[in-house]
Amino acid sequence: MEFRDKRNPNHKPVRKAVIPVAGLGTRLLPITKSVPKELLPVVDVPAIQVVVEECVHAGIEEVIFITGRGKGGIEDHFDYNFELEKILEQRGKTEELERVRAISQLIRTISVRQKKPLGLGHAVLCARDVVEDEPFVVVLPDDLISSEPSVTTQLIEVYEKYGQGVVSTMPVPDEEVSRYGIITGENWAPSLHRVRTIVEKPEPGMTPSNLAVIGRYLLPPEIFDFLEDQEPDESGEIQLTDALSKLARERALVGYEFTGRRHDIGDKLGFLTANIAYGLNRPDLGPEVLSYLRKKVAEADEAEES
Ligand code: G1P
Repeated sequence: MEFRDKRNPNHKPVRKAVIPVAGLGTRLLPITKSVPKELLPVVDVPAIQVVVEECVHAGIEEVIFITGRGKGGIEDHFDYNFELEKILEQRGKTEELERVRAISQLIRTISVRQKKPLGLGHAVLCARDVVEDEPFVVVLPDDLISSEPSVTTQLIEVYEKYGQGVVSTMPVPDEEVSRYGIITGENWAPSLHRVRTIVEKPEPGMTPSNLAVIGRYLLPPEIFDFLEDQEPDESGEIQLTDALSKLARERALVGYEFTGRRHDIGDKLGFLTANIAYGLNRPDLGPEVLSYLRKKVAEADEAEES
């Protein structure tokens, strides 16, 4: 398979994003007992809105949520809220009204129910009838990545250049490889790898690379054929990683080392650091967050010295 710069103008444009939101969020219990993790705040914006806005800025026109039981609040968030809008209007709260209304006008959303918890590969396969015969992005909403341009935009650029599926990657410390899908392959240009295989959550020391797949993928529609043929793993889940490995072997797959800062907000520490980082970037809050942090660091230093 060719890895030349193709700039093929005949590629179908990337218009659709699949966002799996059926996960239980067990790493964040007890809050996720009743609140979908995707609705947890990044300062005052639900995490799911942060990733949907990333899609909108990348030119995506339609978002397909793969949902599950108890996740209805996500659809509500992107819908009109007639009662709230009416009250805000009556009270003359124009700014708030505009903010609330803008969310419902962000993008067209479609929901597909994943009726059984059969893994990420199965979640993506649930989108087949809606995606049809087009390339699409998969966005895992646990991974918040701040960068300019966004990682989704970066992936679309790589796809437009090489015309192959792309997975975003990031080097991780050796002791963390078992949390991720890890790619092996050859580096053929700065930040670009030809993927040979991906191993899901390998034991440390059992893989020649420490390049982890992070939650942004740009996939050709052929991935659905590989997913459909994919046998479940020993835990009964259909792994996206296994289908991607087959795509890499039988067609081609690019591993792209993105630039940006990633927070895993499905994890308690990642959730906290994301809130600090996004809070620091907010013009209305940043200076105060920074002075609070400085004070805390000074106090900790003092305590250590005494
Ligand atoms: C999933 C994928 C894994 C990938 C990770 C990125 O794992 O299966 O390959 O590295 O997302 O966040 P999960 O975090 O759902 O266990």
